[in-house]
Amino acid sequence: MQVIESVAVFRKAHAVAAKPLGLVPTMGFLHEGHMALIHRARKENGTVAVSIFVNPTQFGPSEDFETYPRDMDADLAHLDDAGVDLVFAPPIEEVYPLGFDTFVDVGRVGERLEGQHRTGHFRGVATIVCKLLTIVRPDRAYFGQKDAQQCLVVKRLNADLNLGAEIVVCPTVRDPDGLALSSRNVYLSRSEREAALSLHRSLTLARQLHSQGENDADMVKRRMGELITAYPAANIDYISIADAENLTELDIIDRPALVSLAVRIGRTRLIDNVIL
Ligand code: PAJ
Repeated sequence: MQVIESVAVFRKAHAVAAKPLGLVPTMGFLHEGHMALIHRARKENGTVAVSIFVNPTQFGPSEDFETYPRDMDADLAHLDDAGVDLVFAPPIEEVYPLGFDTFVDVGRVGERLEGQHRTGHFRGVATIVCKLLTIVRPDRAYFGQKDAQQCLVVKRLNADLNLGAEIVVCPTVRDPDGLALSSRNVYLSRSEREAALSLHRSLTLARQLHSQGENDADMVKRRMGELITAYPAANIDYISIADAENLTELDIIDRPALVSLAVRIGRTRLIDNVIL
């Protein structure tokens, strides 16, 4: 496994790498959710590249960029075990050198939900993903359904800017009790972790209500909200039921719908979703 910190060295490694090349972009502190993407990429490609970069431009000023969990040694050991070929782990100055001044302006698909609650977040995501796809030039890039809106933003970006990768979306990996794996779960105390189960439980309720014939989106959202607010530690940022393609909010669930939510558990903000 080759660990590369510079764009120039990565370009050289790309030239001699077996194709197709699969890329899994991450911010590190890897868990089984990340590893599922990596195992899938390993099955489908001649070369697997993983990027590890905690991208400052996608964090808001009051968010957790400084304290975001990091453990490069453990990450590299996991990647080596998984048979990864190339790790791109650049320092910040390599990605955003002095004078950096160009950003990707995300359209409507990034305006709602996370975009509305985390101003500038998708501009930062789209900018770094655009840079990674142009530096690494993968045939395939792997993303998790856990970040459903990010997947839509990346697909739009890849198509609109002709970045030429196949975008592969992989299912959300959960703990046995349903909690979606996230690097931020380490912030949760034991009691907060119990409250964090409200996300998955409310999504399960939505699925149940829908399968019983309920198609009134407000009704489903109300029931989800009641379930979550029964946990005193949980504060809802939003609950949404939206068209799964363009994220416009639905009144009636009459097409594939993304049920998504963001909930604050103490100081930790968690997101999750299911498709109906
Ligand atoms: P990060 O949060 O590290 O996630 C890296 C990838 O792993 C993303 O595609 C994310 O959706 C996926 N992932 C995270 N948890 C998952 C889970 N429980 N099941 C399945 N997939 C999961 O997302 C980012 O980093 C960044 O925004 C990035 C795309 C790297 C750009 O900076």
